Amino acid sequence: MHTIDEAAAAGRKIPRHIAIILDGNGRWAKKRGLPRALGHKAGCEALERTVEDCARLGVEFLTVYAFSTENWKRSQEEVSALMQLFAFYIPRLRKRAMANDIRVTAIGDESRFAPELARMLDELVRDTAENKGMTLVMALNYGARDELRRAAVRLAAQVQRGELLPEEITEETIAQALDTAGIPDPDLLIRTSGEQRLSNFLLWQSAYTEFLFPEVLWPDFTAETLTACIEAYQKRDRRFGGRKEAGS
Ligand code: FPP
Repeated sequence: MHTIDEAAAAGRKIPRHIAIILDGNGRWAKKRGLPRALGHKAGCEALERTVEDCARLGVEFLTVYAFSTENWKRSQEEVSALMQLFAFYIPRLRKRAMANDIRVTAIGDESRFAPELARMLDELVRDTAENKGMTLVMALNYGARDELRRAAVRLAAQVQRGELLPEEITEETIAQALDTAGIPDPDLLIRTSGEQRLSNFLLWQSAYTEFLFPEVLWPDFTAETLTACIEAYQKRDRRFGGRKEAGS
């Protein structure tokens, strides 16, 4: 097991893009007899640590599934606790992103968020837009099927306006119509808490992604868990549907 700095210095391949499904906040709270909201608060703190650990490691893109299109189905009490946490942590994240040269972008449909929260999010994205270090991609009110639906609407509108012929729709035009346009596909996807599902996250983008499902609950995710995941990733043999090259 290596520390973050040892792993960064080891010269082995660091995934360029890591995606994380932050899972297990509720179970973490339950185990301690705490309300679920405190599990989410601990989850926000784990996220703050992990963002900086990934930046130190030299990861170029970190995408986190912070709120899905399905999460609105949770109790009103839990949804409102999550919205309050976002409103508290987004300005904090802005300060930390500025201090660490981190650019933040968002994917998902922010139109359903309260105007004040949407404004905070826009400010976070705008103020960090020129930062040159890692890019943190926050998936908020994100669902991959919704993203694909919105991309289809955009492409159909281009066809209707005569800007695009149907036969000109390629994998590249679809990728460019997605919220993740310009972001490389994830190399490694981690879902914590032992659950082994994608739950409507990055369906298009994860076609060749390596998946890891550590048992750790998200609030307990540490720099050691991250380096262990990266070491497991480095042992994977990525062929992208092709043949293993001689000597690799
Ligand atoms: C799932 O745990 C986690 C969430 C619903 C996401 C919570 C969001 C964060 C921790 C970070 C967001 C931060 C910002 C600043 C936007 P769960 O409730 O599904 O856990 P369970 O499966 O154990 O019940």
